[in-house]
Amino acid sequence: MAMAMNVSPCFCVASNRRSGNRVRAVASEDLVFSKIKDDKVKLGGSDLEVTRLGIGAWSWGDTSYWNNFEWDDRKMKAAKAAFDTSVDCGITFFDTAEVYGSRFSFGAINSETLLGRFIKERKVKDPEVEVAVATKYAALPWRLGRQSVLTALKDSLNRLGLSSVELYQLHWPGIWGNEGYIDGLGDAVEQGLVKAVGVSNYSASRLRDAYEKLKKRGIPLASNQVNYSLIYRAPEENGVKAACDELGVTLIAYSPIAQGVLTGKYTPENPPTGPRGQIYTPEFLTKLQPLLNRIKEMGENYSKTNTQVVLNWLVAQENVIPIPGAKNAQQAEEFAGALGWRLTSEEIDELRSLAMEIKPVTGFPVEKL
Ligand SMILES: NC(=O)c1ccc[n+]([C@@H]2O[C@H](COP(=O)([O-])OP(=O)(O)OC[C@H]3O[C@@H](n4cnc5c(N)ncnc54)[C@H](OP(=O)(O)O)[C@@H]3O)[C@@H](O)[C@H]2O)c1
Repeated sequence: MAMAMNVSPCFCVASNRRSGNRVRAVASEDLVFSKIKDDKVKLGGSDLEVTRLGIGAWSWGDTSYWNNFEWDDRKMKAAKAAFDTSVDCGITFFDTAEVYGSRFSFGAINSETLLGRFIKERKVKDPEVEVAVATKYAALPWRLGRQSVLTALKDSLNRLGLSSVELYQLHWPGIWGNEGYIDGLGDAVEQGLVKAVGVSNYSASRLRDAYEKLKKRGIPLASNQVNYSLIYRAPEENGVKAACDELGVTLIAYSPIAQGVLTGKYTPENPPTGPRGQIYTPEFLTKLQPLLNRIKEMGENYSKTNTQVVLNWLVAQENVIPIPGAKNAQQAEEFAGALGWRLTSEEIDELRSLAMEIKPVTGFPVEKL
């Protein structure tokens, strides 16, 4: 059903490539495809330009939260296809982190290592391809000082096989030592190891402090990556969105489709398995149904899927770049169809009002640090 509705511009391009039958895509599809690629936005006050939607790579190689605690060759091929299809569709911004696919998790492969491999393999057949990589520093309690940021960044670059990345973010605020971390971000820019720097899971007041500290060195804080979706609107309520807009810091929205729940594929009878099942219980999914039904109805008017509607809702908030996670080519392809059109203001407001009737799930505790 989802694919029947999917008007993704790269559908023909990607499927023809997959079948090995390189049929020329029709001119209009080529046009939309290159429009997504070229319609880039500046990340905050930095010079870095990225696509209006990025792809999250947390699930790639992960065995602690995703993939039913197992990683295998089939999942690897699917993740690589997600990467290639995203690029085929013009989406070239990828988000990873040093802790994704942690070596402490049995059978895991580091997500940075995988992303680096996918980029390298892509460059062999497509040397001109330009990909923007965002990765993150884990502010673990025993890591202190600016040097720890540079050391971790160099390790990330080694895993990625790159000499620099486009965006380096502090994954969460440290319990202590934040001043040193911000100094480390500044050093990374000055040493040419990153194009832009950002934070993640930062409250409005921590965001302002980080912004001011970097500003003294003439470095813009480009982004704050936080949990934001139609059913998790904490950034609208806790001042984070307003602070981002005021300071000119881009809000990067993580878990933008509520870990798959807003796609409509999970129901009270068919809840997600694994750790997600603890959060998105049958009881929660029952309360979600009226909203999902309305999203579906709205999408039908535009020939769009639920996934595309909820991502479009986020993009319409302005100054927001969603980074949905794609496990396979089909998911990546569907994301591209979230761009290039717009819900009306009435529809945007109606969806927010309906969503307000649902009590949000508990977020990642680091938001509260
Ligand atoms: N900074 C932070 O602290 C933080 C925290 C969380 C995430 N992130 C970043 O944000 C990215 C995205 O967040 P997320 O992965 O938590 O959640 P998400 O993007 O809301 O959901 C991703 C999951 O939804 C399902 N899905 C994706 N596309 C679909 C489609 N078209 N149709 C049906 N199901 C689909 C897939 O899982 P199934 O197929 O298994 O259902 C996929 O793994 C991460 O990859 C990571 O880069 C950052």
